[in-house]
Amino acid sequence: MLYSKILSCGSYLPQKILSNKDLEKTIDTTDEWILQRTGITQRHIAADGELTSDLAFKAVQNCLANYSEEFGDVIESIDCILVATTTPDKTFPSTACILQSKLKQRGISSCFAFDIQAVCAGFVYGLTLADSMIKSGLCKSIIIVGADRLSSILNWQDRTTCVLFGDGAGAVLMMAKESEDEQKDGIFHCKIESEGQYNNILQTSGGIGKTGTAGYIEMDGKEVFKHAVTKMSDSIKQITNHCVLSPDDIDFVIAHQANERILDAVSKKLEMAKTHFVKTVGIHANTSSASIPLALNHCLQNKLLKRGNKIIFEALGAGLTFGGVYAIW
Ligand code: ACO
Repeated sequence: MLYSKILSCGSYLPQKILSNKDLEKTIDTTDEWILQRTGITQRHIAADGELTSDLAFKAVQNCLANYSEEFGDVIESIDCILVATTTPDKTFPSTACILQSKLKQRGISSCFAFDIQAVCAGFVYGLTLADSMIKSGLCKSIIIVGADRLSSILNWQDRTTCVLFGDGAGAVLMMAKESEDEQKDGIFHCKIESEGQYNNILQTSGGIGKTGTAGYIEMDGKEVFKHAVTKMSDSIKQITNHCVLSPDDIDFVIAHQANERILDAVSKKLEMAKTHFVKTVGIHANTSSASIPLALNHCLQNKLLKRGNKIIFEALGAGLTFGGVYAIW
């Protein structure tokens, strides 16, 4: 049986930290308001000229550094690079191709590369695509990156949005595995969905076609909150039902890090203890497609995840796009 497994993870956050207290000096907000409503204390902001492909490159370097040789030499066998981003360096070529050129110095070049645009659910979409490309036999080793530089599409005078987001990147290496008998680890089930009728509750104010500029993030916060809680909990329930598990069997939900209150509401709806939900949004805010691999790497660096742990990766993003992936570590 052919299946896929994540064998390494890495991440990168830009050096500059912007705290809630720093924001108090430029807009009408307070550390208390932001912390109470979101759990966020600070965000990282990319330097001038530090683009999404640069964040992605550093996350991949970290992922390769964390890769254990026990799994064999991997560099030569990488046959695909997927970058989930909503803040590409340029309209074209893809950020994945720009990243590929940067990775040439690491010996990675003979592969195909493309971007995925599913906003905050981009990384879960990426895992799903990669899993099916491995199962179909098209690829053996895939780098999946979630990288976003949301600071460049924020209106820094709009307190209802700018306090929520930050910049960052995370990357995983997914590889094909073969098993003679029952699958014991790796990716078991993926389910992604879209509901385009809600495209305008979370969007940018512009776009190359519409205004000639990228525009700024705007959203109906309460509507987004409602959809995030309902759809992420329904998605987790569907996945556990499909895999004949109960939500309680899941050791960790590594969900998109938008807001601690969303994560708490999902855990309440599913009657799962809050401790099953990994939370890193406090230290880097909402980094869109980067947030899940950032949270995964946090778990690995802090030795929270053990082999055999059952995980659900779960996300909702603009589109609306949403879905989850069930894996055993
Ligand atoms: N500082 C201080 N006051 C603020 C700020 C701020 N940064 N932002 C808004 N306010 C004010 C509002 O103007 C309003 O004032 P008013 O009552 O005088 O009109 C008051 O605070 C309450 O505003 P609400 O919008 O009702 O606040 P709410 O409790 O809904 O919280 C929030 C807002 C945090 C955005 C919430 O709706 C939310 O979390 N939504 C989900 C949005 C999200 O996470 N989006 C990320 C992208 S989607 C995703 O990744 C899943």
